[in-house]
Amino acid sequence: MDVTIHSALKGGIHATGPLRGTVTVPADKAICHRAVLAAAIASGETTIEPWPSADDCQRTLAVVQALGISVTKSGETMLIRGRGKDGLRPAAQPVFCGESGTTLRLAAGLAAGQPFSTTLSAGPSLSHRPMRRIAEPLTRMGAAVEGQGGSAGEFTPPLTIRGKRPLTAVRYELPVASAQVKSAVLLAGLFAERPTTIIEPIPTRDHTERMLSRFGASVRREGQVVIVEPGALRSPGTLAIPGDFSSAAFLLVGASLVPGSRLTIQAVSLNPTRTTLLNVLERMGASIRIQESGEAWEPSGAVTVEARPLRGTTITPAEAPGLIDELPILMAAAACAQGLTRFEGIGELRVKETDRIRSMMQGLKTLGARVTLPEPDVVEVEGGHLTGGVVESAGDHRTAMSLAVAGLFAEGATTIRGAECVAKSFPDFFDRLRAATGFSTVKSVDKA
Ligand code: S3P
Repeated sequence: MDVTIHSALKGGIHATGPLRGTVTVPADKAICHRAVLAAAIASGETTIEPWPSADDCQRTLAVVQALGISVTKSGETMLIRGRGKDGLRPAAQPVFCGESGTTLRLAAGLAAGQPFSTTLSAGPSLSHRPMRRIAEPLTRMGAAVEGQGGSAGEFTPPLTIRGKRPLTAVRYELPVASAQVKSAVLLAGLFAERPTTIIEPIPTRDHTERMLSRFGASVRREGQVVIVEPGALRSPGTLAIPGDFSSAAFLLVGASLVPGSRLTIQAVSLNPTRTTLLNVLERMGASIRIQESGEAWEPSGAVTVEARPLRGTTITPAEAPGLIDELPILMAAAACAQGLTRFEGIGELRVKETDRIRSMMQGLKTLGARVTLPEPDVVEVEGGHLTGGVVESAGDHRTAMSLAVAGLFAEGATTIRGAECVAKSFPDFFDRLRAATGFSTVKSVDKA
């Protein structure tokens, strides 16, 4: 399914009331991508619930459909009819991954293990994102990967992957801490002749390891090393997906900042490889209470936040992977905190949906914050008074939502231009913000 956005929404966020009440957030996007891909090559049917409306997840669904898998949506559940390890069929034409980097990189890993060629194409922004990082290990495993080159030596989509069976088992040391690259190699490893070993410089989110184990694969971790054995998957039946912590992060930070707030997010993922934000916010002085309740394969529970004055801190390079998608909202928090916050080793933000160091620095400066770049991958934010203003999303969902939350703390009005991009991960973000803060706070204007 292609998703076309026709209107450019303007989210005008005005000086606000506190965030109060109990809310949920959409099902975890990262877990859903993995659930769909694993279910497609497993034997048996898998039900995923609730199925999120995030655009990115629809792309992964479209990819497996193009490879011959039948899926049925019924209300909030998605049924995937797995065809087993040998069940994928060549796609009739290039498979469009939209703007979903996770879809493209993980699907490339799967495609590497198929006895046919697959072309994965991308939307305008993803077409500029780096793919050598997956092509390198998949090529070493025996797949042939062709991408688009440029004068600067880029390797970008569309990618054509000529798969091989069995793939060569490798021992691969990741040059960057990236869960997407690790996951592509893990998925390819299912089709290798012997166990595949991956060494991570810093641990990243472990959803693929957990998902493959849930589908009966043998995946084990020894320190920084992950080992996957080749083998067939079988469906565990139903997968209950917790809420997306990265979506909850915007509301949690909003409630930490706006005086008088007390907000509970229910049934949200508490996977420890994703929740470094909570440690950092506590260090900044936030009041956070956690009640774990969910299934052990992917921990989840309720998080309650009460507003407190926040103070600056230092984010270390070792913390960055566990916070990778929360760094923009943490920059917004830093702009509203007392004192200096230093973000070290955050260069990976430059290759997200947009250069998030640039988009966040621009946006926060427009809102009146003092932000500097002492080194190319180090940002310093001096907290203080925000005035509000008109800022650009740069087409990036996390920039749009982070600046919206900063707008809650600003004195004047803040308008986020191009805010429709929130649909990538959190289509009803502005509605939830409206419900939590009071309906007069958030006003949307559709541009034709
Ligand atoms: C993701 C991994 C991260 C993250 C992205 C989702 C995943 O990307 O930023 O939003 O689901 O594996 P990298 O692996 O490029 O760091």
